[in-house]
Amino acid sequence: MSDEPPRSQDSTGSRKIPGPRRPRRVKLADGRELTLRAVRVSDASEIHQAFERLSPASRLTRFLHHKKSLSAEMVERGVRPRPGYSFVLVATVPADDGIDIVGAAQYQPLGVAGEQDRPPGEDARGEEGVANDARPASCEFAITVAEDWRGSGLARRLLASLVDRARRDGYTTIEGLVSAENVAMLALARRLKFTPHYSPEGGNAVVVRRRLVRD
Ligand SMILES: CC(C)(COP(=O)(O)OP(=O)(O)OC[C@H]1O[C@@H](n2cnc3c(N)ncnc32)[C@H](O)[C@@H]1OP(=O)(O)O)[C@@H](O)C(=O)NCCC(=O)NCCS
Repeated sequence: MSDEPPRSQDSTGSRKIPGPRRPRRVKLADGRELTLRAVRVSDASEIHQAFERLSPASRLTRFLHHKKSLSAEMVERGVRPRPGYSFVLVATVPADDGIDIVGAAQYQPLGVAGEQDRPPGEDARGEEGVANDARPASCEFAITVAEDWRGSGLARRLLASLVDRARRDGYTTIEGLVSAENVAMLALARRLKFTPHYSPEGGNAVVVRRRLVRD
């Protein structure tokens, strides 16, 4: 259940943007503790480091292509989500240089993922309504947990929080593109009531989708 108040509209019908959520301490099933909080601009170098620590296999399942590096532009966009439209949640632990980011989950309006976030040669989906600043009803998510932090429920917490937040931002569906071989992500999606669908992007990917409002 959400620990945030429900989203509402003001008397003019305008969307009210949920405020920033406070950092939360959480304890995982294996007893380890970490902090969940919204991304900050100062996280840029930690996000680079977290990417560098990921194995090639994890990069492949996350980006669906062999991604060698994260560009500075992509990280800059990532640490400056647009309130009410996109959101990035990070899981941090103390480290010698301050913190390490050991998990991250994000959403953005469907169809606005940066080109660098997509397999080469593939187009963004659902671009209608984005160019004129209108927002699509759906958002797309992505999630990554550091290899030595997996299997303890961190992704489940991150994605459950993301679902709550996307609902409060007024989205009606949330979806993600997942490799058909990504057993862990498909299990996690099933656990959180996402259903698999044929992907218009073809290849070896499926779309996992969840409605955020009652029909
Ligand atoms: C997918 C990923 C985020 C899962 O992270 P995680 O922290 O290990 O997942 P959790 O521990 O929260 O597990 C969530 C559920 O998925 C299931 N699951 C996780 N890993 C699994 C695996 N390898 N095989 C089968 N089920 C698995 C668990 O059973 C759990 O269900 P439960 O709550 O009923 O026990 C992680 O493997 C990852 O970062 N992969 C690389 C990036 C990626 O593929 N992202 C997805 C594309 S956007």
